[in-house]
Amino acid sequence: MKLWVVLCLALLWVELQNGDCQQVKRRKDVGENRIRPGGKRVKMRHPKLKDAGGKGQSLLTQVLDKGRFLRLGQTTTLTPGRTMELRCKGNSIGWSYPTYLDTFNDSRLSIKQSDKYSQLILTSPSAADTGPYSCWVVVCDGTECEKDHDRTHVSYIYFTDKDNLFVPSAIHFEIVYLRPDRPAVVPCRVTDPEAVVSLHREVPPEEIPSNDTLVTYDPTKGFILQNPSLELQGVFYCKAVTTRGTPQISTKYQLLYVEVPSGPPFVSLESSPESVRGGDNVNVTCTVLGEPEVDISFIWMYPGQDHRPVHIHNSWRLVNRGLSHTTRVSQSVMTIEDMETIDFGSYICKAKNQHGETIVATNISSN
Ligand SMILES: *[C@@H]1O[C@H](CO)[C@@H](O)[C@H](O)[C@H]1NC(C)=O
Ligand SMILES: *[C@@H]1O[C@H](CO)[C@@H](O)[C@H](O)[C@H]1NC(C)=O
Ligand SMILES: *[C@@H]1O[C@H](CO)[C@@H](O)[C@H](O)[C@H]1NC(C)=O
Ligand SMILES: *[C@@H]1O[C@H](CO)[C@@H](O)[C@H](O)[C@H]1NC(C)=O
Repeated sequence: MKLWVVLCLALLWVELQNGDCQQVKRRKDVGENRIRPGGKRVKMRHPKLKDAGGKGQSLLTQVLDKGRFLRLGQTTTLTPGRTMELRCKGNSIGWSYPTYLDTFNDSRLSIKQSDKYSQLILTSPSAADTGPYSCWVVVCDGTECEKDHDRTHVSYIYFTDKDNLFVPSAIHFEIVYLRPDRPAVVPCRVTDPEAVVSLHREVPPEEIPSNDTLVTYDPTKGFILQNPSLELQGVFYCKAVTTRGTPQISTKYQLLYVEVPSGPPFVSLESSPESVRGGDNVNVTCTVLGEPEVDISFIWMYPGQDHRPVHIHNSWRLVNRGLSHTTRVSQSVMTIEDMETIDFGSYICKAKNQHGETIVATNISSN
């Protein structure tokens, strides 16, 4: 369950970072290699910010009734329930849309490419489909294809629903990690760009005033907290009001302060009991303290490798250090039963995260 939450947050983060993480072929992973129509792997350049929105006029249009077209600007407000049809000119077009539609493998979404244009149809759109929709021209040089950043068009589409001022989330209680060195986002996005949104702490009840610097609100992202401090830990929610209608509140967000810097894992290794004799059972424990959402993988090297069975048990848990910081304790415990001569020697634990790896060793000698 926790891992799932973290995955969703990671997806959301990717979505917020570049907004264009899918291609024509609907797929779930968001790696560097994309699949273009035809199924070939293509390397994507990182989106250049200056090209966001594309050069010249947007090629992204909405098909209205009676064959009329509307060129979409940076934001568009639509009514939920009514089928949306978007078109983008070109004979090889890539699309992106809110990751939500992929996560749930939504059959309401279809994409068709014809000679002259590509068509994205979303039937029965709802507040949850609010998000960035983007298309781009795919240019190929032989078999190498890539996104043309100069011909990328994006529109943030709001499906304004007075009963769902907040974009509904599949997660009822989200965790937002606060780090001193980067902004944090409380992702309470709205379906109505006109809504006035405020950020509230649950206990003690108080409103966190937004201003132009430390706490800002972007309806397409949520509350952005610059240099979040320890004091912002706790349970929060957002409240939205429009000129008509009653105020609504969002799902809850648990803000957790994380202090451990990003880097290779910090590892310790110990064996128990301290003094070992032949026939003993021994545990060798490799422990990593790190950031809550950072996965650790362990690799062991040991004297009896390939010769004798051992038992390895990996686990992790979150601990609150004091009331303030949250640390993830990841552990790999190797159990050697009935120590034999070949088992004495050097036990090496290699712990790896996305930033690097750390190797630690301990000797078990007979006495
Ligand atoms: C997604 O939908 C497609 C077609 O509707 C189906 O073939 C596929 O198995 C589904 N995948 C998952 C993970 O549900
Ligand atoms: C902005 O809001 C934060 C949080 O409430 C506060 O700490 C900070 O002093 C404010 N900054 C300005 C310039 O008002
Ligand atoms: C090894 O770990 C297991 C499981 O945690 C525990 O039951 C056992 O007592 C430990 N043995 C030693 C020698 O520390
Ligand atoms: C562990 O043992 C190896 C050889 O058995 C030796 O080279 C190494 O220095 C020892 N390390 C420690 C920390 O005692």
